[in-house]
Amino acid sequence: MTTLLPRGLRELGEALLTPHGADRYLELLDPMLVRREIRGRVTSVRHQSPDTVTFTVRPSRAWRGFEAGQYVRLTVEIDGVRRTRCYSPCGPAGGDLEFTVKADPQGLVSRHLHAKAKPGAVFGLSAADGGFTLPSPRPERILLISGGSGITPVLAMARRLVAEGHRGEVAFLHYSNTAADALYRDELAALAARHPGFRVVHAHTHGRGGDLHGFFSKQHLAQAAPWFRDAETFLCGPKPLMDSAREVFGSEGLGERLHTEEFTAPPLTFDTAAAEGTVRFARSGRECANSGKPLLEQAEDAGLTPEHGCRMGICFSCTQVKTAGRVRNARTGEISGEEGEEIQLCINVPVGDVEINA
Ligand SMILES: Cc1cc2nc3c(=O)[nH]c(=O)nc-3n(C[C@H](O)[C@H](O)[C@H](O)COP(=O)(O)OP(=O)(O)OC[C@H]3O[C@@H](n4cnc5c(N)ncnc54)[C@H](O)[C@@H]3O)c2cc1C
Ligand code: FES
Repeated sequence: MTTLLPRGLRELGEALLTPHGADRYLELLDPMLVRREIRGRVTSVRHQSPDTVTFTVRPSRAWRGFEAGQYVRLTVEIDGVRRTRCYSPCGPAGGDLEFTVKADPQGLVSRHLHAKAKPGAVFGLSAADGGFTLPSPRPERILLISGGSGITPVLAMARRLVAEGHRGEVAFLHYSNTAADALYRDELAALAARHPGFRVVHAHTHGRGGDLHGFFSKQHLAQAAPWFRDAETFLCGPKPLMDSAREVFGSEGLGERLHTEEFTAPPLTFDTAAAEGTVRFARSGRECANSGKPLLEQAEDAGLTPEHGCRMGICFSCTQVKTAGRVRNARTGEISGEEGEEIQLCINVPVGDVEINA
């Protein structure tokens, strides 16, 4: 195998195998043998609730680990097309990655994973990314708040804090519709039982049997963590939970202490009828008439495969340099200047002629 050869010989071998590189050939033997890209093989699968799937993945050798709270871009092939979405691993550092995915009834990749994640399946992975991480040194008091599948990045933080033997106070306030939907319920109970400074509070928005009932409020906050004003808080969940938490923390003057991760963003609309000008992708030399769609879609329509994750302006993995022309950020409505700058392809639309370094 090429990995047993001295470096010089390996490089020579790689050059001889150009244009495809050794990975394209190793992949035919076993996708996990690739050296430059990261792949993950599913090692176990379980269903914590009917609409979710939890699976562990053993990453290939190029994997370099992750900070609790970060996400990876997971790629699957569906009907011959490679689709990429972001998912937050929550397994222990150094072990198999663990993902919990909620199947969106209208969604493409989450439904595919829900149905097709089986032991032995191989997915593409990116390196871990994202700034939703615990600060170092760790704060004395930490409040983790999550709703639904938003539990994954904050569970990763909880597991990491426990593994590190964090001596301060940690409260974990988790929202689910009913007790039956509460992900990781047994594990959280076990963590709280073993660690005196670790408190778990289950809030059910639509059912009885939890510690708290109804939607997020200042009262819930005070009950879950009476010391929340002294804490650093990490939040991930559906938009209504995020909005009300931002409002409460803002009204308390604690906006800076609230750290958030979004899984979704409101859908955007694009005015394709008024589109004009030409889009040029400088590196590849491709060119097309501006269709008025976001630049990521225009690049894909032109046969390019730019890196991307969320496709909604959250993860920044589609960022490329705009070398000429102006674009409109469909999320903010802001129109850029003419000069070169980094833009997110998935939410920016050309305003006339534009050149992207892709
Ligand atoms: C940083 C980050 C971390 C994440 N971590 C997790 C995690 O750990 N677990 C998890 O479950 N999820 C996570 N997500 C969400 C995940 O990336 C996906 O967004 C989610 O699984 C849905 O993907 P999908 O392909 O199934 O849905 P998509 O096919 O992308 O569709 C999503 C929604 O958009 C709608 N839609 C699709 N196309 C259109 C259209 N043309 N017009 C209007 N509406 C449309 C669909 O109806 C659907 O409701 C994370 C997201 C981010 C950004
Ligand atoms: S793909 Fe995530 S910001 Fe564009």
